[in-house]
This record gives sequence, C-alpha cells and structure tokens, in this order.
Amino acid sequence: MKILITGGAGFIGSAFVRLSLAPGSTNSIVNLDKLTYAGNLDNLKSVESHPAYTFVKGDICDASAVEAVFIEHKPDAVIHFAAESHVDRSILSPEPVVATNFMGSFRMLEAAKRHKVGRYIHVSTDEVYGSIDAPYDADESWPLIASSPYSSSKAGSDLLALSYFKTFKMPVIVTRASNNYGPYQFPEKLIPLMISNALEDAQLPIYGDGQQIRDWLYVDDHCRAIQAALALGREGEVYNIGGSRALANLDVVQRILKITGKPESLMVTVKDRPGHDRRYAITSEKIEKECGWQAQMDFEVGLEATVNWYSTNRDWVSRVKSGAYRDYYSQNYSSR
Ligand code: NAD
Ligand code: DAU
Repeated sequence: MKILITGGAGFIGSAFVRLSLAPGSTNSIVNLDKLTYAGNLDNLKSVESHPAYTFVKGDICDASAVEAVFIEHKPDAVIHFAAESHVDRSILSPEPVVATNFMGSFRMLEAAKRHKVGRYIHVSTDEVYGSIDAPYDADESWPLIASSPYSSSKAGSDLLALSYFKTFKMPVIVTRASNNYGPYQFPEKLIPLMISNALEDAQLPIYGDGQQIRDWLYVDDHCRAIQAALALGREGEVYNIGGSRALANLDVVQRILKITGKPESLMVTVKDRPGHDRRYAITSEKIEKECGWQAQMDFEVGLEATVNWYSTNRDWVSRVKSGAYRDYYSQNYSSR
C-alpha cells in the first residue's frame, strides 16, 4: 500500500515511518512535511535511503503543493499527522496553529476527496474532550470541550474530517490519542524537557501545583494503534488510544529525577498555564475490541528507555534547541 503521511519528520510521524518501513513491510511511504521547528530529517536517518521512502518538503496549507503530491504519488491511503502540536505555543501564538491544524487539514481532505483516496486517518488528541472530572474516562461519544487554541483547532478539524465522511462518503477515521512519550520528542513537551534539563542540571519548571493528570502512551504503541485502525477500523468512526497510565505531572518529574540521579531541588514552581486542563482520561475499549490493539509498553520501562535515549543523544537535543526553540524558550519562561 502506498501511504501519504503528513508531518512524518515530527515526533510521532517519524516513529510511524520508521515502524512502517521495518524489514518485512510491503508499504511504501511518501512523507509530506514543511520542516517547521518541530520537523527534523535527522529523525529519519535510518530510512532515508530506503527504496520505499520518499520525502517531499511542502506546506499542507498550500493547496497547489498538496495537489502536486497527490498527482505525482497517487496514494492509496493518507495518514494526517502534521500539526502545530504544542499547547503553550498555541497560547503565545495561535495563528499558525489555527492555519495548519484547521486549514491545513481542510486542504488535505479536499485533495484526498478529489483523488478518491481509499482510506484517510485523521490523527487527533484526547485534549478535544477537555478536562475530565474523576472518576470518569471519556469514550468516543464524550462532548468536545476543548480549552486551548491547540485543542480547539484539533476539535474543529476532527469535526471537519468526520463531515467529509457524512457528506461526501469519504473513508475517514479519526484517532484520539493521549500524551505520547519516547525518543525524538522535541524538548518543549513535559517529559523530554524535564529529562534534558535534568541532564544539564537546569531548572525543571512545574506549572502550578503539578497535580494535573495526564495518561502516558509510548509512541510506538500509538503508531501500532494507527496501523490497526488503518487495517481494521470502521469508516466514519472515532477511536481513542490511551496508555492506561494516568500520573500527576509532579510524579512523572520525580521519576525522571530518580532515574537521572538528580536532586529534587532542581524543580521550580512557575506560573500555571492559562486555561490549563486538570485531568485527561480516556477509555480505549473500542479500538481494543474492534481492532485488536493493546498498549504494550510498561511506563517504567518506557520512561527509563526514553531517559537513556536522551542521555545518549545529547547532540540531537542541542541541535534542535539551537534553532527557533531557543527564542521561544527564553520568551516563554522569562515572563513567569
Ligand atoms: P510534532 O510537533 O513533533 O511534529 C509535527 C510535524 O508536522 C513536524 O514534522 C512539522 O514539520 C510538521 N508540520 C507542521 N506544520 C506543517 C505544515 N503546515 N505543513 C506540513 N508539515 C507541517 O508533533 P507530534 O507530537 O508528532 O504530533 C503529531 C500529531 O499527533 C499531531 O496531529 C498531534 O495533534 C497529534 N497528537 C500528538 C500527541 C502527543 O503527545 N505528541 C498526542 C495525541 C495526538
Ligand atoms: O493529550 C495529548 C496532547 O498531549 C497532545 O495532543 C499534544 O500535542 C501534546 O503536546 C500533549 O499536550 P499537553 O499539554 O498535555 O503536553 P505538555 O507536554 O505540554 O504538558 C504536559 C503536562 O505538563 C501539562 O499538564 C503541562 C505540564 N507542564 C508542561 C511543561 C512543558 C509543566 O508542568 N511544565 C512544563 O514545562
């Protein structure tokens, strides 16, 4: 199957490309990516000369660039990962977030409709459900109560994607995953930021009281779930993908300090994120039952492997941090 992936140079997209081109795979992959601060071809070094892999640099908001990719490559399926994925950035600067996450998704849907693509996976997030009070876990019928420009742009694009199934009979599936962690994640998100700061003996900024709950999913488990939805998911349906490992942020950071052997005095409390969702919680029963998927990675093992990856790839961290991220980082934290 020829799969067009958007955002394949990012954290999850690159893991999906590496997994999909593993020995024995019969897929071919075309990766359309704009290479924003979060897109990095270093993440794809292991597959760059694979005969079934093609990279195209382009912006999903650019209708003619998107059309050209469909004309040249004639994909059987699309997996749409590309997004501005960071909540804090979406608060500081919502415009590129709305443009890519909503209008970019629209451009992709339009092109896939024109070219009669056989399967279309719209990759989304559990953040569209907003904060969920304990003891409830959101299933796929939970209302969308997004809190940030990031999550509302994702919620809008989820609805748009589903409307292309209802209105145009396009074979769309929406997946909504919880917080991913693992190698190659840009060090602006909680786990890679805390690991890389701890390794540098820098401060670890905890937003508010640190008791916000997130459900952690290893990135390869997420990618396998998307493969399962691609193969067995029902068109027009939404599938939640969770790690079944809910932890308070403070607990996660303390575990990182323990693994890295660094002192808790590195933690500093900073101003809370505006509109900060307190708790994310989803049930993945639907994808487990219908597509036979289950998360495999144990959080303790996955976190240790992730810390090891960051400590042996410190050059990767300094390369990605030396770009636009450095300005963002000083702007974001100097005001707290
Ligand atoms: P990321 O920020 O690491 O990567 C995003 C990729 O998209 C980058 O390669 C970037 O260059 C590319 N991109 C951005 N704007 C583009 C544009 N206009 N045109 C073409 N390419 C563009 O993101 P991620 O964490 O890998 O997330 C991938 C997807 O998964 C997103 O849709 C995100 O909403 C969703 N998601 C992420 C998580 C998570 O925990 N990271 C959890 C659930 C869902
Ligand atoms: O839930 C899925 C979502 O998870 C994805 O859709 C997003 O793309 C992804 O970025 C992530 O969003 P979060 O906002 O949950 O992730 P982040 O890593 O930014 O923050 C996780 C928690 O840690 C959140 O409660 C905020 C807190 N935090 C984060 C940072 C970066 C801190 O306390 N300090 C920090 O420095």
